Amino acid sequence: MSATLTAGVSEQRRLPKAAALSDALVFFGATGDLAYKQIFPSLQHMIRRGNLNVPVIGVAKAGWSLDQLRERAHESLEKHGGVDKAAFSKLMELLNYIDGDYNDLNTFKKLRELLGRAQLPTHYLAIPPSLFPTVVENLGASSCAKNARVILEKPFGRDLASAQELDATLHAVFPETSIFRIDHYLGKEEVENLLFFRFANTFLEPIWNRNYVECVQITMAESFGVAGRGKFYEEAGAIRDVLQNHLLQVVAFLTMEPPTSMYAESLRDEQVRVFRTIPPLQPGNVVRGQFEGYRKIPDVAPDSKVETFAAVRLEIDSWRWDGVPFLLRTGKSMAVTATEVIVKLKQPPLRHFPNQNNYFRFRLGPDLSINLGAQIKRPGAEMVSMPVELSAVQLDLSAELLPYERLLTDAMRGDPLLFVRQDAVEAAWAIVDPILGPDTTPLYFYPRGSWGPPEADRLVADIGGWHNPEPSAQGGTSHFMWRYDEPEDTSRDGG
Ligand code: BG6
Repeated sequence: MSATLTAGVSEQRRLPKAAALSDALVFFGATGDLAYKQIFPSLQHMIRRGNLNVPVIGVAKAGWSLDQLRERAHESLEKHGGVDKAAFSKLMELLNYIDGDYNDLNTFKKLRELLGRAQLPTHYLAIPPSLFPTVVENLGASSCAKNARVILEKPFGRDLASAQELDATLHAVFPETSIFRIDHYLGKEEVENLLFFRFANTFLEPIWNRNYVECVQITMAESFGVAGRGKFYEEAGAIRDVLQNHLLQVVAFLTMEPPTSMYAESLRDEQVRVFRTIPPLQPGNVVRGQFEGYRKIPDVAPDSKVETFAAVRLEIDSWRWDGVPFLLRTGKSMAVTATEVIVKLKQPPLRHFPNQNNYFRFRLGPDLSINLGAQIKRPGAEMVSMPVELSAVQLDLSAELLPYERLLTDAMRGDPLLFVRQDAVEAAWAIVDPILGPDTTPLYFYPRGSWGPPEADRLVADIGGWHNPEPSAQGGTSHFMWRYDEPEDTSRDGG
């Protein structure tokens, strides 16, 4: 082993252990939507688990007082998971607030004062990306960035060029090891589970390649619309909001080579390697859609060409995956809310043992299950088969961490394992760059509550159609069980 490699490996081992715990958490955008829906519930969970006992400072420009922020936190918890009296009162003790303009250096001087003796703060930018440069520069100019970490939310930029600009802005103040880029899909147990199911089970690896896998489909469907976020969505659209990040991360976990260890850089190296083997998408492999009525939503342009649905067909140019089609689809106002992966296996060779039911089905949300489609003998005198699903369904969710709870805790510990590295951000933008924008591909309309525009069917014409997830994963126990499907149901691929 070369000297450089040895040094690299030992550095990776040291990094998470040696990193010190942050001694304050600052979150910008304290009065905003993300704080309301995700951050307050996560902070309460962190306190309950004993993972948060440092000052928490909210910053925003809303003309609010600390009491107003406290009320907002209470309301947020009532709506999202419930108020735990003891944990909430602890949160109220820790919480402080600065009302100020992000353009005004005095806001940051006040912040430095309020941080007091804290020397290792974590700054969480829960704010629109257009404000990142101002906040980052002022953190630097006010000494708030010294020894600090910074957390930011996807999408990181709007395309490859702006992602590189954003990175330059961040690096002017923070070193890469202090930057934590959140894609909350990486904080989901369901997504992390893909790694364990793949690499901890001997039976899977020999078939997890082009010799046995016919195609892979990933659907992330949401039955709700843009949920009051018309302004954000007009700037994003489904490709930037979800496909470039959440769905490509799922592809990476499904297809990467085994990481050599569970240290951050081995996993992140494999992630980026997958992205680099996916050729940039061409317009012919993309179908964009918009749900009917989207243009009437507040803050949406009456002639908007922004997509609320996107379906793409991509390939992975690697020894393992050459020739296997990967179909990714996401949409708002769809028939159900569900995220599912189907890995369809090739037919076995014997005609007298036919099997149309040969697949793995990973349910990633809103509930978790792992299912293996198989064919068994139908009970009775006839020598015929029937389809079944072998399912592992998670029933007890009490040990599960909220994605943001997990990621905030990890960032405050300085553990980068589940955060996106800049090279992966750039490689993922390179995949979607050619299909961004309203004029690269046509836009088709679809009715609310449907599976998107029928034009998307052409992407799957040769592989038996789209797999449409059910509204909910089937019930069951947390151990393996046989679930008997209706005998007529010989295919799960909806073709
Ligand atoms: C966010 C997107 O990143 O993920 C939203 O901005 C989307 O548009 C959400 O609804 C979905 O997250 P989850 O965890 O509910 O699947």
